[in-house]
Amino acid sequence: MSKTEWFSEWFNTSYYHLLYNHRNEPEAENFIKAISETFDFSSGINVCDLACGKGRHSIMCQKLGAKVIGLDISEQSILYAQKFSNERLSFKVADMRTVFANKEFDLVLNLFTSFGYFDTEEEDVLVLKNIYTALKNGGNFLIDYLNIEKVRFEGKVENTLVKDGVTFFTQKYIENGFIIKKISVQDKNDFFYFYEKVKQINLNLFKQMLEEAGFEIKEIWGDYYKNDFNSDSSDRLIIRCLKR
Ligand SMILES: C[S@@+](CC[C@H](N)C(=O)[O-])C[C@H]1O[C@@H](n2cnc3c(N)ncnc32)[C@H](O)[C@@H]1O
Repeated sequence: MSKTEWFSEWFNTSYYHLLYNHRNEPEAENFIKAISETFDFSSGINVCDLACGKGRHSIMCQKLGAKVIGLDISEQSILYAQKFSNERLSFKVADMRTVFANKEFDLVLNLFTSFGYFDTEEEDVLVLKNIYTALKNGGNFLIDYLNIEKVRFEGKVENTLVKDGVTFFTQKYIENGFIIKKISVQDKNDFFYFYEKVKQINLNLFKQMLEEAGFEIKEIWGDYYKNDFNSDSSDRLIIRCLKR
């Protein structure tokens, strides 16, 4: 029997959604509105929100006029998102490591650090190649990753948070090229242990991998307001690239 991968387990729990409940619809609305200056959702473009979670960005893109499909490996998140489906908005369980479309989309989104989970660089490049295949010629890919230079600067970070009576103790540190976040959950008398493991991918490595997949980088932003990326201070690393 194959072992469960951490991202299939953790993102499928209600604890993930509780811990990150500040990553909510208003944040998604703000960002999608900001990028609507770049992507003309109102013209009815075809969008894929890859690793869509509960669909907060998909819903907003569709509201602005796009036809949207949200894909995610988490069955629970897709079940939740499907409540918002309509004839121009659908959600499906899918693994980004398998080809999910062929020349279908004007825009593929991969938002809020939904990349870099796999052990090898080959798997990361495979995902980028799948995205390239899924795009029409001239289509855009937008990836929103954490800025690993800032995480490195911050060093080891520990936090205790209580949300809805559930206590989360988190420890974030860098080990063997990955940013690890250990998450201990206390829910009344029950204890659960999870972790996140995200690859240390900086702008240079992204450039290399995106080029290998065939993309041309067009713009780089450092936050959800489309300010320029600064490797020392930006919270996010957001790259817009083009299928030539
Ligand atoms: C940090 S969450 C972000 C979710 C969403 N983009 C948002 O902003 O709310 C990462 C998402 O990636 C999904 N994911 C992880 N591995 C995946 C894979 N191999 N294929 C598709 N989705 C995956 C998880 O289930 C999770 O919903």
